[in-house]
This record gives sequence, structure tokens and C-alpha cells, in this order.
Amino acid sequence: MLNQEPFVQKMPVRLDFTPEVEKATAPLYEKVASIYNADHWRALAPYVFEINRLKEEKNAVILAHNYMTPDIFHCVGDIVGDSLRLAQVAAETDADIIVQAGVHFMAETSKIISPEKTVLIPDMSAGCSLAESITPADVMLLREKYPGVPIVTYVNTSAEVKAVSDVCCTSGNAVKVVEGLGVPEVLMIPDEYLAQYVATQTNVKIHTWKGHCEVHERFTPEDIARFRKQDPNIVVLAHPECPPEVIEASDYAGSTAQMVDYVETKRPARVVLITECSMSDNIAAANPDMQLVRPCQLCPHMKRITLPKILHSLQTMENEVIVDLDIAAKARKAVDRMLELSK
Ligand code: 13P
Ligand code: SF4
Repeated sequence: MLNQEPFVQKMPVRLDFTPEVEKATAPLYEKVASIYNADHWRALAPYVFEINRLKEEKNAVILAHNYMTPDIFHCVGDIVGDSLRLAQVAAETDADIIVQAGVHFMAETSKIISPEKTVLIPDMSAGCSLAESITPADVMLLREKYPGVPIVTYVNTSAEVKAVSDVCCTSGNAVKVVEGLGVPEVLMIPDEYLAQYVATQTNVKIHTWKGHCEVHERFTPEDIARFRKQDPNIVVLAHPECPPEVIEASDYAGSTAQMVDYVETKRPARVVLITECSMSDNIAAANPDMQLVRPCQLCPHMKRITLPKILHSLQTMENEVIVDLDIAAKARKAVDRMLELSK
């Protein structure tokens, strides 16, 4: 049996499932009925209702990453996608408030791009092992070691690290950004595996750093061999944060949005996504005819974001993300250059 249970977050039932809530949220329930049973929905729906009401009242927008659970992704997210899309939208939205349903570096990126907006993150401790792996002092040492070599910094970093970088990239545009610089060599920090993947796609020489994603580094080629043994026709898609031997054993590597595009355009009968597990749940909810294997590796940081916490941040305006203005201005140059190069 290939399919596994979706990852479902338990909800405290604290708000009432009134007839008004039931009626207003019925079209949203249709989108996620394959994931949540009716009892579970009774607990989720009052939060969905109240969040959507408050968003309208406060002119707020929720930017939800592909790793959010289906209740957030399908029922309260206004814009959903990968890090690149969320950054592009942060630059364009005319909402007064951005609630970042994702991790802290994503909220900082939104604040860097839109300093005039209030950016909230429902849980301040939603971090990222890659962002933790490098400091501005490390970057300055690298500059000394590789004088004149541009520093291409993955968006999964702090604003302070972006501020001492030349340009940012995401997993969706890394090759384009590296090639767009028109130089023979670059430093790509901090994700060693993303840098190694980009090196296979370009002639630009890539130096890297020893940062890893604590979720994607857990996948092994043996996992893929097991999936292929269970079903020789299965299509295997991997995120470029995976180790090189995992990408090698896969049929395709791409950002979370590129994986979604792949399955929605090629519509493979059976597919496994080597990435965080809520991605598969979200695709499965939208494509009930597709058979997805769900190799569940949870990102503990992404999973800190829940409907009650989103509601709390909208009600109280707590957990506002603030970036020092000088740091933000310097980091913005690196982010803007990325947005320009990825057009
Ligand atoms: P994407 O840019 O592909 O959405 O990836 C972000 C991330 O944190 C993956 O672990
Ligand atoms: Fe960071 Fe990995 Fe979680 Fe993405 S999945 S936020 S890279 S720890």
C-alpha cells in the first residue's frame, strides 16, 4: 500500500461551530474534505471563519508557504507558493498587514521588501536550520578567503546575513541568478546541497558552505530504492535541499512550486515528493485522482504555525517582525537584485 495518512494537526475546540460558521465555510470544507473528517472540521471551521473575517476587517493578507497544513494552505491562505512567489507577492500586495504563514526568514524577507507594512509571524520561534548555520561574521571571513567572488545567499538566512551578501536566490531561481551574474565563480551560501545541485546545472564554479536543511538531509537513496521497489513506475521528485545522491536517484529536482507545476502539468499516475510532508497533503487535497506517496518528514519550524496562532496574531497584532532599518536597506539590495534577475 503506497499511500499514507496525511499529517493532520490536532485542534483544541474552543470556538463554536454555529450554523453561520458551517454555512460560510462549506465551500472551503469541500477543498479539504479528503483530509479532515466532519468532526475535525467542526474544530477547524470556527478558526477559519474568524481568521477570514478579521483579514477583511483589517485589510490583512496571509502568505502561506507550500509546507503549511491543508487547513491553512487551502482555507485561509490568500497567496500560496514557494519562497520566491511569496517574496514577489510581498512586493506587490496593497494590504496593510502581512501574516506570514511560514518561517521567520520568510517574514523578514516580506518586511525587507515592504518596510511600510506590518508583518506578523504567528510564532516567533519558527526558525530554520539553514538560517541558523551562518552568521554575518562567517560571511565576512568568506569574503577574505575569496576576494572579489560574489556571494549568492539563499533566502533561508537572516536579514543580517542578506545585508552582507551581493544577491539572494531561492531554490526556484538559483541557477538563473548564478548565471545572470555573468561571472566565472560564485560563493553559494549556506546550503551545501543546493549549491552542489546548482553546480550540476551550470558551468559557473561554485564554492559553498556546510549548512543543511534538517528535514531534507534525512532522505536517503535507500528511501527512493524502496519506493521504486514498491512501484517501478513511480515518479520521484526531490527538493534541491536533499543530498546529491538523493537527487541523483530522483527523476526531477525543483523548488516546492516547481514540483507542484510538474505534477499538475505532467499528471503522473503515481508520484512521491521527497520533501516536507504537508506539500503532498496539499496536492492530494486538490487532486483527489492522483496517488501520492507521503514520506512524512515534518519541518518542526513550519509546523509551529497553526490556525489558533494565526488567529491570535491577527486579534492581538502580537509577534510583529521588525528589521533594523539600516540592515533592511542593505538586505533589500540583495533581494531586489534577485527579483530583477529572476524576471
Ligand atoms: P522553496 O523555496 O522551494 O519553497 O523552499 C523553501 C524551503 O524552506 C524548503 O525547505
Ligand atoms: Fe528550513 Fe528545512 Fe524547514 Fe525549509 S524545511 S524551513 S529549509 S528547516
